[in-house]
Amino acid sequence: MPMKGIILAGGRATRLYPVTKVTSKQLLPIYNKPMIYYPLSTLMEAGIRDILIISTPHDLPLIEELLGSGENLGINLMYKEQINPNGLAEAFIIAEEFIGTSPCSLILGDNLFFGSGNFKKTIKQAADIKNGAEIFAYKVDKPESYGVVEFDDSYEVLSIEEKPTYPKSNHAVTGLYFYDNDVIEIAKSIAPSDRGELEITDVNSCYLEQKKLYVSLLGTGTAWLDTGTHDSLIEASSFVRTIENRQGTPIGSPEAIAFENKWIDHNSISELLESYAYDNSYRELLLKILNN
Ligand code: TTP
Repeated sequence: MPMKGIILAGGRATRLYPVTKVTSKQLLPIYNKPMIYYPLSTLMEAGIRDILIISTPHDLPLIEELLGSGENLGINLMYKEQINPNGLAEAFIIAEEFIGTSPCSLILGDNLFFGSGNFKKTIKQAADIKNGAEIFAYKVDKPESYGVVEFDDSYEVLSIEEKPTYPKSNHAVTGLYFYDNDVIEIAKSIAPSDRGELEITDVNSCYLEQKKLYVSLLGTGTAWLDTGTHDSLIEASSFVRTIENRQGTPIGSPEAIAFENKWIDHNSISELLESYAYDNSYRELLLKILNN
């Protein structure tokens, strides 16, 4: 059964106040696209076509207005509310009906991944997982602000902890996760943490206890940016701008990936771009890949 995908795009975004007082973090621009384009592109790069977007009652209609049914990208987009930000693991409870009996992946709406062919291969393989859970580790300078995973030389996971005071490694767990169908029951079985949230780290700990938690290391050829603070937001924008302008290839472009995956053709992209100004630089970038 093909892997389904969830984009979790709710939350409070208090670290971005006042910018996010009346608007969703996931609709803010990362250079030339709304933030949510980036996690959507990552799921599409993994080959996932059935995607549920979860957000707040306030923001969900706006996200739906932006992305619609997904038909114009050759994918199927659905939408569901998270009434309160009760934690990342609540996504699987909200998505129970959508997931059905399939395996399911989750990506956070404010996570931006950029990588070469190797990264794409890694996430495509993860999307084939039949049994267990796959997470991705990324070396960071200050691991204490993240979920932290410790593993040995053969990538066997030894421990996983949420925002530990004394991290056992420098490897943060990124906001992209792949699970077998057990994830629904596991999410239902965990209790809220001291901060009142259903923690994804607790879901991952259950898989670890069953010796079914697998980790892949995202190397230096991959960029993982989280865009939750004022500084990280502008850093991500500069990063995208630099790479796109230098290489002339779009990053985080659902249109480009749909085209690359042969889910849509030349004409569909041209139609999508009809309402764009002639000198819109995103339009120019997409036309470049069409003409190559
Ligand atoms: P966070 O950055 O941990 O939380 P936040 O977005 O509410 O921001 P802040 O800490 O500034 O208040 O969330 C990571 C991502 O997960 C982000 O895209 C929002 C999303 N999220 C939900 O959709 N629902 C939730 O219950 C939580 C905790 C997060």
